[in-house]
Amino acid sequence: MRPHDVPMVGIVRAQAEEVRLWLRRDGALLAGASPQADGERVWLPLTEEAAAAIDEGSLRIQGPVERRAVRFHRQQGSYRDLLQDLPVEQQEQLPVSYDLLGTIALVKVPEELEPLGQRIGDALHRQHPRLTAVFHDGGVHGPFRIRSLEALWGDGRSATVIHEHGATLRIDPAVAYFSPRRSTERQHVAAELSTVSGTLVDLTCGVGPSLVAIARASVVSKRLIGVDYNPAAVALARRNLATATSSLPHGQVAWEVHQGDSTLILPALPIPQVVLINHPTDPGPLLHAALRDHSVRAAGRPLRVVVYHLGDNGAPPRQWLEGALAAAGCTPSAVGWRQLHAYSPSTCLWGATLAFGAIAAAEEEPGRP
Ligand SMILES: C[S@@+](CC[C@H](N)C(=O)[O-])C[C@H]1O[C@@H](n2cnc3c(N)ncnc32)[C@H](O)[C@@H]1O
Repeated sequence: MRPHDVPMVGIVRAQAEEVRLWLRRDGALLAGASPQADGERVWLPLTEEAAAAIDEGSLRIQGPVERRAVRFHRQQGSYRDLLQDLPVEQQEQLPVSYDLLGTIALVKVPEELEPLGQRIGDALHRQHPRLTAVFHDGGVHGPFRIRSLEALWGDGRSATVIHEHGATLRIDPAVAYFSPRRSTERQHVAAELSTVSGTLVDLTCGVGPSLVAIARASVVSKRLIGVDYNPAAVALARRNLATATSSLPHGQVAWEVHQGDSTLILPALPIPQVVLINHPTDPGPLLHAALRDHSVRAAGRPLRVVVYHLGDNGAPPRQWLEGALAAAGCTPSAVGWRQLHAYSPSTCLWGATLAFGAIAAAEEEPGRP
């Protein structure tokens, strides 16, 4: 972790502990940074507010104040503990959760706390010293499902590397979608498909986390094809697949990633045995394209489709699926639903594995969408 310049006051050794306790009681001691011993004096880290107060003369402490380079140490407890000097109403509005992605953190700062963004970012950094940047997460938007990020603290770079169940993934949530919340589901799907050989097409591959998990879990040979119309996602997916497959037995997994609209590209690809569709807010056109392609090119042959959609808590979006299947004129031989994580206070994410043709599977609800 890089050192940071913070204001420090130099107190003669004999009085240093007494002053430290006094500063701490007063909320003037900067949490997370250690004092520095230097000859006759011990240098105590101050908050910026305390340093300004000493400068103005409203806080009197016997000792010189200067900026010194310190390294923060990881705090016990929560970053919220580092913001205890805020009024109680503001403390209660501080976000309790945030995403840590490699060296960056994403936090949704409520509008009322906008002016405190930098302090929140700084506190998160002191809680997690490996961070190099903290961003306000304005949510995903647009066809590429890219996150609106606003730098709160740090170098402002959102590209980072994460490790997910042993895989290394390069991500940049400012230019390509990625969510760590789907990691368990990715492992589930990868395990489910580990013995399925043939061609698998991910119609919305993003930076390739599902393809990477599937490649790593595979115990048979496979051809993995990713498609995304976001060029930044395609570039990252190619890097991630190259890294993931470099350590696999030669020839076990072949892969390629195409940029473009997958509803248009799919008919030109090899006929898939598995199709993944991870676009929960609008999976309809993609599912329709996959089922239509199957009925035109491979009717009667086995196909698995893994698709995601939003639904109510405890109630999978059956009606949506029934409508989509009816529109495409297809009837699956089995459907397995999985409730995943919450998406909003009233909705959650559902995953479904649909089997068409003669696939021997242990799905829970044969034939019922
Ligand atoms: C919700 S993200 C999921 C990305 C990835 N599967 C993951 O789990 O991280 C949806 C992705 O699908 C892409 N996408 C949506 N519709 C598409 C289409 N018709 N053709 C190609 N890519 C599409 C978006 O650019 C975005 O990267």
